[in-house]
Amino acid sequence: MIDTSEVLFQSDQANLSKWLAEDVVTDSVATFVEGPGLKKLGLRFDSDELRLALNDVMERTDMAGDIEAGFGVIPLTRRPGTEGATDNDLSGRHWLRADERYVEEPREDLVDEASFTEFIPDYADTYFAHVHNELTKRVPIGRMRLSSKSLYNCNSWHRDPEPRIHVPIVSNPGSLFVINHHVTHLPADGSVYFTDTRGYHMAMNGGFDHRVHIVAVIPN
Ligand SMILES: [Fe+2]
Repeated sequence: MIDTSEVLFQSDQANLSKWLAEDVVTDSVATFVEGPGLKKLGLRFDSDELRLALNDVMERTDMAGDIEAGFGVIPLTRRPGTEGATDNDLSGRHWLRADERYVEEPREDLVDEASFTEFIPDYADTYFAHVHNELTKRVPIGRMRLSSKSLYNCNSWHRDPEPRIHVPIVSNPGSLFVINHHVTHLPADGSVYFTDTRGYHMAMNGGFDHRVHIVAVIPN
């Protein structure tokens, strides 16, 4: 009879010496690495113009302090003719397993993304209007928001009803995006990323400064 504990012991010993001899990855973690549900579009924006537009919007909104503090969401689109956004508009339906029961449950209400057709007129002269225009040429866009995340911060491990497009404006190598089993940094170099947030995901910021992304929902 085979002693399985001895076999497992030898297998662990062999594996550990193999793993200890492997190269340690330290460079590519500061770059974008494509994976399932995380892709880069051919479309590219001017990273300087994105930052200027962010400054423009910050000067015009009373939510600038929230963005700098790293927990702000500023809407860039709205339902035509409406003013302001509800709390649900700033977040919306998502599902998560919140505790040790491992039970998936819905949170908040569904948002009719397709109704967010109007770019907010106050920002019509900013570069973000060009971003909205270029995105909507390619795919329908619902809520489009500026979303900031402070240092040492992450959101819940959840899934959304729809995918999103991310355009990083301010970032750092410790700012990471996780979808299912894949994690990568999304550099703020004008690149545009498709994130299939119908899968479980979270964003986290392990850097020393806040990060700001444009997040645009692709309605179902
Ligand atoms: Fe999400």
